[in-house]
Amino acid sequence: MLIKEIKELRSTIKSWKREGLSVGFVPTMGALHEGHQSLIKRAVEENDKVVVSVFVNPTQFGPNEDFDSYPRDINKDLEICLSAGANVVFNPEPSEMYYGDKSTSVSVSKLTDVLCGAKRPGHFDGVCLVVSKLLNIVTPDKAYFGEKDAQQVAVIKRMVRDLNIDVEIVACPIIREEDGLAKSSRNTYLSAEERKAALVLSRSLEIAKDTLKNGERDARKIKEFILNELNKEPLAKIDYVEIIDSDSLASVDIIERNILIPIAVFIGKTRLIDNFTFEIYTY
Ligand code: PAF
Repeated sequence: MLIKEIKELRSTIKSWKREGLSVGFVPTMGALHEGHQSLIKRAVEENDKVVVSVFVNPTQFGPNEDFDSYPRDINKDLEICLSAGANVVFNPEPSEMYYGDKSTSVSVSKLTDVLCGAKRPGHFDGVCLVVSKLLNIVTPDKAYFGEKDAQQVAVIKRMVRDLNIDVEIVACPIIREEDGLAKSSRNTYLSAEERKAALVLSRSLEIAKDTLKNGERDARKIKEFILNELNKEPLAKIDYVEIIDSDSLASVDIIERNILIPIAVFIGKTRLIDNFTFEIYTY
């Protein structure tokens, strides 16, 4: 079922709750791919009812970013959601979500000073605003996010903790194409040549993984391996490569705890992100 109005969505969810049913929620910006499908399927497995939101959120895009060109195809998205087992697709207009004179902001500090937060000023304020609104509207038991946006997961978990929002945040693994490219709605922007070049992201992370498995613990050296690989690709322009603590997102010199290696790289005009978590006790 497609719902466009908050009022209708709330009354549907209230009727489910009166029956004692649990609600899972998958927030998306549409242009759905197998990554989103895996989140929806997991939500279907773990809840009685599942809501997917499809909303290209204007407040999380910078002035020179791709809000206008972001791919939109609600009919295709609806089909994907329903075939994955979702019960409701919530697809509001921006005017349904935002008052013209809105005066409230939601901002998570520190965790957003680095990585995408540093490169995309205001981005996480927009994400936190829309996610907190959606969680207030849907009031789910569990909400599902992809680990490809590792910083987003960390920021949302912190926001939910700090604001005592009664929801469990479930982080789900990155889904990749067969050749290793992390699935992303923005992959549709890539030309055939750029699509090949984009493999440098997963390839450079694989090199880091092998180096870590072989015992290297000097973060500077691991970073160098990644940068060397990325620099071999002429279409790639590095935005950031970091080696950070998985929880605090603070930079790490010697790898003694679980770490996250997030990277952001422009392939042509398309900015792609990928990451890899290294759990020290696994090796
Ligand atoms: O990850 C996304 O697609 C978006 O940032 C989200 C969480 C749906 C908020 O607009």
